[in-house]
Amino acid sequence: MSRIVYVNGEFVNEAEARISIFDRGFLFADGVYEVSSILGGALIDNDAHLQRLERSLGELSMPCPASLKDIAEIQRELVTRNQVKEGALYLQVTRGVAERDFAYPSNTEPSLVMFTQARPLIDNPAAKQGISIITVPDQRWKRRDIKTIGLLPASMAKEMALARGADDAWLHEEGYITEGSSNNAYIVTEGGEVITRHLSNGILAGITRGAILRLSRDTGMKVVERPFSLEEAHQAKEAFVTSATTFVYPVIRIDGKTIGEGKPGPVTVRLRELYVEMALQQAAAQQR
Ligand code: PDD
Repeated sequence: MSRIVYVNGEFVNEAEARISIFDRGFLFADGVYEVSSILGGALIDNDAHLQRLERSLGELSMPCPASLKDIAEIQRELVTRNQVKEGALYLQVTRGVAERDFAYPSNTEPSLVMFTQARPLIDNPAAKQGISIITVPDQRWKRRDIKTIGLLPASMAKEMALARGADDAWLHEEGYITEGSSNNAYIVTEGGEVITRHLSNGILAGITRGAILRLSRDTGMKVVERPFSLEEAHQAKEAFVTSATTFVYPVIRIDGKTIGEGKPGPVTVRLRELYVEMALQQAAAQQR
């Protein structure tokens, strides 16, 4: 079944979507993106995603192609047109079309494209069984707080993981984990503390991360935002990742070492339940 996608003001069949080869997203990866999850046909935590989009654009002095309210309207329309009940919506803004030049062009119209991907988020084997990861050096640039479309280092890390029989990669720098190839990384210690790296230019401020930290604190869990080392990761009682497309996935193996009992641990399972509950409530509220 072919999708309806959104390209610069038009809803078109995916086969008819066109972007210029001079688009700076294509030539310079000069663009930013957001991925929002869809549950029950509703976008989850989308306001937070759009706020982060605005921030990413600001950091790159890139104009926003429409008001956030109008962008949200287009997103909802696209979900409706494709009748997606569960999955994700990808949104990308690039600086637009200009003669190739390293300097930012003036007065170009930014491009805005969006597409949906239908896929199971709740009833997902990785969520039930957990995933295995390897750790690899973080080869990305130093502004990982900006959600840019320059994703080749992340793609290479994922590819290395698959080549070594794992599902994904965690990235490390100076002996400490930064984050996952496309998710935030957490460990749970013997004492039950949930640890994840503090926010900085070194990681993306995950929207799911924000929600998970709120939920863990609300339920009385001890949360510490600090870097954790490779050794701590290998010795963790539990480990997990969060993102808009995974919610919470347990990590049951790191670099071939079994984490905890080699199955999703109680803290991870509880946090996933809490997140899904919150997301379903958000979806239901939007239906009303
Ligand atoms: N990735 N860190 C990185 C490097 C990411 O690419 C992502 C999300 C996250 C989690 O952010 P959030 O909770 O807002 O989804 C952290 C998306 C899902 C992607 O690239 O497909």
